[in-house]
Amino acid sequence: MIQKSMTLTPDGALAFGGADVRALAAKYGTPLYILDENRLRENMRGYLTAMRAAFGPGALPTYASKALCFKVIYRILAEEGLGADVVSGGELYTALKAGFPMEKVFFHGDHKADWEIELALDSGVGCFMADSEFELENIERICAARGTRARVILRLTPGIDSHTFAAVNTGKVDVQFGRPLETGQALSFVKTALSLAHIDLAGYHCHIGSQIFTEGPFFLAAEKMLAFVKQAKDETGFEPECLDLGGGFGVRYVESDPVIDIPACIAVLGEKVKKLCAQYGLKTPDIIMEPGRSIVADAGMTLYSAGAVKHIDGHRTYVIVDGGMSDNPRYALYRSAYTVYNASRMTAEADMKCTIAGRCCESGALIQENVVIPAPERGDLIAVGVTGAYNYSMASNYNRLTRLPIVMVKDGADRLAVRRETLDDLIRCDMDE
Ligand code: LLP
Repeated sequence: MIQKSMTLTPDGALAFGGADVRALAAKYGTPLYILDENRLRENMRGYLTAMRAAFGPGALPTYASKALCFKVIYRILAEEGLGADVVSGGELYTALKAGFPMEKVFFHGDHKADWEIELALDSGVGCFMADSEFELENIERICAARGTRARVILRLTPGIDSHTFAAVNTGKVDVQFGRPLETGQALSFVKTALSLAHIDLAGYHCHIGSQIFTEGPFFLAAEKMLAFVKQAKDETGFEPECLDLGGGFGVRYVESDPVIDIPACIAVLGEKVKKLCAQYGLKTPDIIMEPGRSIVADAGMTLYSAGAVKHIDGHRTYVIVDGGMSDNPRYALYRSAYTVYNASRMTAEADMKCTIAGRCCESGALIQENVVIPAPERGDLIAVGVTGAYNYSMASNYNRLTRLPIVMVKDGADRLAVRRETLDDLIRCDMDE
């Protein structure tokens, strides 16, 4: 089994976070997201411990909310002492309503509407990550009108190909995020920030991509960013308080995925950062990182009920489940690999090669192709592992399907963290005429 949270019940069914998934299905219905709170907390603590050890007490992991955002997760993050990265008024509002300490919120994204900047200032957000001069000027204008100041970190692109899939290879020069080091535009971005009366420049940020399994690109990003810190200091005298090295550590979805030792990588990164700072005569900035996937992915799974099993003579066998690309669009979008289980009979012989298809009305709406599982019988539960990241957060109401609930499990006990949407939720924004 791909996840530590997965165990077997005495009669050979799947348990997750100590809870028998059949009991969860009976209590909450399917399809259902399940999240193991212990695993979530372990992942959070792992980052905090590794980063403090590598970079010192000023280091802060800021969880990338886009991976999975709902109120309870902010309560857990706050308890564990992490910060949060938000990219929209919506994520910001969720953190606010959860009572998250807003000074530990970093507001990212390449487009912040004026109302979002206002909301962030009203709620005392710790820092804005400015993506461009356009955005700096918007923050400046709004702060000037309010007679206030904003703490700002600049997003820079270090020009690194992180060799991940194209949709998330964000550190290259030709990308819509940040300002590139390579073209000299990063330096003029810094000069603009320093010239603005209501902007307190705090440092720099980069994010080179997501689902990265090799350490090299992270080291290279740190090297390029610190060389830039030195260059910008020589040119402007400005030395950053903090340096945000982004998120992106890869997560194993299937057995064949590589393993990346995140704490070990962070430890080496710590050595490199300290050495380079000493070499350049810089004080070591407070290091921020923004893990999303590697905090939530392996804490989660999705539970479906199997419906029809259809064999297409001469072709393949489809197992249709009661969810689909509306709750997990990642196979349709990226051909992402997942491990699939017949959760009702985990110890039975895996005797059926099949494609797990969802109920959305298009042929590409698959969850996974060519998996081998014990043939499902009527009423069997199908589990898809490692769905904690970018599933609920990318879910939709396509085909007017209701979004799934999130059930948190901890040492066998369960609680509802997000309720299932109702039919009335689906029409709540519709006008009658
Ligand atoms: N920081 C920034 C600025 C980001 O853009 C991202 C992810 C992260 C941090 C977190 O990266 P992580 O640690 O989760 O790799 N929908 C895609 C993933 C998109 C990632 C976007 N940015 C997927 O389902 O694979």
